[in-house]
Amino acid sequence: MAKEQLRNAPGQVRDAIVHVLSLTSRPLSVKEIENRVGQMIGPTPTSSVRSYLRLNTPDLFVRETRGVYTVQTVAAWSAQRNLFETQIWRDPVKFGKSTIFHADCFDWIEQQEDNRFQAVVTDPPYGLYEYSAEQQNKLRNGKGGVWRIPPSFDGHTRSPLPRFTTLSAQQLKDVRMFFFNWARLLMPKIVPGAHVVVASNPLLSYIVSGSLSDAGLERRGEIIRLTMTLRGGDRPKAAHDEFPNISVMPRSMWEPWLVYRKPIEGRVQDNLRKWGTGGFRRPSSERPFGDVISSAPTRKVERNLAPHPSLKPQAFLRQVVHAVLPMGKGTILDPFAGAGSTLAAAEAVGYESIGIEKDEHFFKMACDSIPRLSRLAPNVQH
Ligand SMILES: C[S@@+](CC[C@H](N)C(=O)[O-])C[C@H]1O[C@@H](n2cnc3c(N)ncnc32)[C@H](O)[C@@H]1O
Repeated sequence: MAKEQLRNAPGQVRDAIVHVLSLTSRPLSVKEIENRVGQMIGPTPTSSVRSYLRLNTPDLFVRETRGVYTVQTVAAWSAQRNLFETQIWRDPVKFGKSTIFHADCFDWIEQQEDNRFQAVVTDPPYGLYEYSAEQQNKLRNGKGGVWRIPPSFDGHTRSPLPRFTTLSAQQLKDVRMFFFNWARLLMPKIVPGAHVVVASNPLLSYIVSGSLSDAGLERRGEIIRLTMTLRGGDRPKAAHDEFPNISVMPRSMWEPWLVYRKPIEGRVQDNLRKWGTGGFRRPSSERPFGDVISSAPTRKVERNLAPHPSLKPQAFLRQVVHAVLPMGKGTILDPFAGAGSTLAAAEAVGYESIGIEKDEHFFKMACDSIPRLSRLAPNVQH
């Protein structure tokens, strides 16, 4: 559809304003909104932007200060994520071929030049909620919120897990929108054929998958991380004796890592020549990269080096990271870097990587742990 026609469709300007405000985590001035809406649907007069903003405030848009607006959902996220307290673009910290920024990835990605990254490997927050300041406080106090401390089992204390089943319908919608906006933002910044590998969980992966596809990425399968944990499969709460033969849910022993790719240009061989992407690097010339990877929970030695509640194991990540740069060249991005385990894995296999972490505590943790995790012996088998 021509830009002119798009602009004339009913509600198009309003939807474009929602879209541009959703793509950034900071409020925008009317001028900025006008420019970005213009890029999306063609020149749009300031008066039209203003009247849509006015008409839909406060239900949809929030007036932060005079002439500066954000969109309701983003306002809710921002409050949750303590965004305006996050210090954006502090000097990045470098170690070897890895660089970590303390920033909000939405803002940071938006500022990057096009075709900047050859792959993305990330483990995002699944609700926007579990890594909000409020939920992190609840976790650190050991009480309430989406974090659940599973009962110890056979004398083993188990790590806290986010309780995703508690997400409401609205929160699920927010998750959908969060990943859609994230992927739309990412699309121009990755080269054709770049793989985007996203850690997920069996309860929410269908939502993330839908959002990534809607944003224009191609689904290429899933990597199954066989975790073989002892989580789930419990009998009904407070009624164990009455229902001794019942599990409320299957005991989950795997973790889906969604595999997506930005559409390639021409054939895979053409794309490999031009962009160096489009396929997976084989672990050896005899063996293709496979989509089931045995991986026990993250080892204690790693958790001691990097005590992040969602730390992923090096043995698993190094295999994935190695595979996503088929020619062994390029930069891997982890926009939700946590303690930097993806960057450490990239460092260990000799690749360039960039990570973004918005939480100051985890950012500092990553600065310490990337060098240490990356130096762990390569035979970190479980
Ligand atoms: C599931 S954890 C990743 C843990 C990581 N895989 C590791 O092994 O350490 C997600 C991380 O994303 C961070 N995060 C959440 N929203 C973010 C955003 N908008 N920008 C950058 N980081 C964000 C959280 O603070 C959290 O540390």
